[in-house]
Amino acid sequence: MTQLASADKKKRANTAKPTAMKSLEVEGHEATVGKVFTDNPKMTMRNVNVYYDDKQAIHDVSIDIAKNEVIAMIGPSGCGKSTFLRSLNRMNDTVDICRVEGDILMDGENLYAPKLDVVELRARVGMVFQKPNPFPKSIYENVAYGPKIHGLADTRVDLDEIVENSLRKASLWEEVKERLHQGGTGLSGGQQQRLCIARAIAVSPEVILMDEPCSALDPIATAKIEELIEELSENFTIAIVTHSMQQAARVSHRTAYFHLGKLIEVNPTEQVFTMPEHPLTEAYITGRFG
Ligand SMILES: Nc1ncnc2c1ncn2[C@@H]1O[C@H](COP(=O)(O)OP(=O)(O)O)[C@@H](O)[C@H]1O
Ligand SMILES: [Mg+2]
Repeated sequence: MTQLASADKKKRANTAKPTAMKSLEVEGHEATVGKVFTDNPKMTMRNVNVYYDDKQAIHDVSIDIAKNEVIAMIGPSGCGKSTFLRSLNRMNDTVDICRVEGDILMDGENLYAPKLDVVELRARVGMVFQKPNPFPKSIYENVAYGPKIHGLADTRVDLDEIVENSLRKASLWEEVKERLHQGGTGLSGGQQQRLCIARAIAVSPEVILMDEPCSALDPIATAKIEELIEELSENFTIAIVTHSMQQAARVSHRTAYFHLGKLIEVNPTEQVFTMPEHPLTEAYITGRFG
């Protein structure tokens, strides 16, 4: 364990609430170097293992995600970034052969508690996918659907307001306000992705997970989403998987480097790209594999 991680662990152990104590006992995360833990965690993951049948995709990953931070997850293709991200809002539950072990907490609450309402969880921890996937409905309905099923609006006026605010926060309002009742799939790729972000925002999530949200977009649409991520981090906690190191460098505060299912290093983004602590991170960022 590095000095930083060890100091962090001590600090956290001293300030932790008794209920959170158990989750703070970290075993076997020595493999991860850097600033893995934070003083103000929104999400706390400890000793997470993920399997597809008997094949292990994530090995003993422990990490905190801080409130209002943008954390980037990078690493070679197949290293488990998507698997780890999807375990944070139990999206892996939809994969029959997938099994998640370990502690995954949000504000100290166990997200894998049997009684937890998974539909509600996926509103609190929203997700934006690689390929924009608006519903085959109008722009308005794409955004209004979540607030409707979660009972967030009592009247049509309330609903209109949520739709407008969400589209504004997603920097899409000006482009679509005259055609709210046209199909969402008729928008450009970049607009569709911002519509999906508006849809996620509409149910007031606490955390937004993004899995390579720009990989299907052109550079201009990508720049818009990146700008948006920065604005969103004022109100939300964001974890973004990206295969673009430039993107990680532009949008994130900390960067987590995964390699063959293991979390190798977590450090402030600038450090990861200028002075990585682990030789595997260095090999990746200098393009020796990936
Ligand atoms: N649904 C699935 N069924 C079986 N294996 C899977 C499934 N999804 C991912 N995997 C495997 O888990 C490992 C990690 O994959 P993934 O999380 O998609 O990596 P990344 O997002 O970093 O490219 C890979 O070996 C991949 O083949
Ligand atoms: Mg992936």
